Amino acid sequence: DDAGDLVNRPPVVTIMGHVDHGKTSLLDAIREANVVSTEAGGITQHIGAYQVEKNGQKITFLDTPGHEAFTAMRARGAQATDIAILVVAADDGVMPQTIESIKHAKAAGVPIIVAINKIDKQGADSTRVRTELLQHEVFVESMGGEVLDVEVSALKKTNLDGLLEAVLLQSEVLELKSPQSGSAQGLVIESKLDKGRGAVATVLVQRGTLSVGDIVVAGNEWAKVRALIDDKGEQVKTAGPSTPVEVLGFSGVPDAGDRFAVVESEARAREITEYRQRV
Ligand code: GTP
Ligand code: NA
Ligand code: MG
Repeated sequence: DDAGDLVNRPPVVTIMGHVDHGKTSLLDAIREANVVSTEAGGITQHIGAYQVEKNGQKITFLDTPGHEAFTAMRARGAQATDIAILVVAADDGVMPQTIESIKHAKAAGVPIIVAINKIDKQGADSTRVRTELLQHEVFVESMGGEVLDVEVSALKKTNLDGLLEAVLLQSEVLELKSPQSGSAQGLVIESKLDKGRGAVATVLVQRGTLSVGDIVVAGNEWAKVRALIDDKGEQVKTAGPSTPVEVLGFSGVPDAGDRFAVVESEARAREITEYRQRV
């Protein structure tokens, strides 16, 4: 129905890798360096995902560790991410969870970009990391392969731009497109019961455009969308493909990993969720 309406959409990226190799530090460093402060004073609220802009192009980062995103979503037949950044600490090299991460990304068919982190540290040996990766069939560009690899320091904020450029380069190869109009569909990436606001779900729109007033079904729950709040904490009227957004108005708390879809009426939403709650 909406195949004629394809637009380029931002890549959705997760970060994975061994414990303490710097996944959280890297996510935070990218966010701090690139999220444009808002007129309201630059207070970015945490909604489980954020977007940055590089060379006029957006990139969506999910806080959910890649392997969790892959397993939770794949169990439901969904795919949350387009690109996985594999963080490997240059002083530690390839470790068991690095190998697990490679397996998850390969199983999900998600391309890897290697971020060799902690290059500021004494004992950092990025050549060793690349050689170890070869043994797990990750062939990085600098060794004649096709996997992009970038040396960074999350701590010193070194070469974060280079990493973002690699994401955009990989994204171009993938030719990511989605219909922009038509009923929105996507995934619940986080959810909670908020004292003041009731059930709140952070969703990733994957196709179509989600609008205030839409009727949305997610798992066993439904909402007449009362408000949409973006990753900068600002109310928005709509959210298009690859955009993470908080949705207010749910009857109950849907589960992270649930798919969501806009339906035509409240009656239809009730029918679907009552059926799902019975089975
Ligand atoms: P888990 O979530 O526990 O698996 O860890 P993580 O991968 O999120 O690592 P985290 O960001 O918590 O960093 C682990 C430690 O490494 C912290 O003490 C960070 O300060 C440190 N660290 C992260 N990046 C760098 C870096 O580029 N250089 C140096 N020297 N230290 C870093
Ligand atoms: Na840690
Ligand atoms: Mg962490």
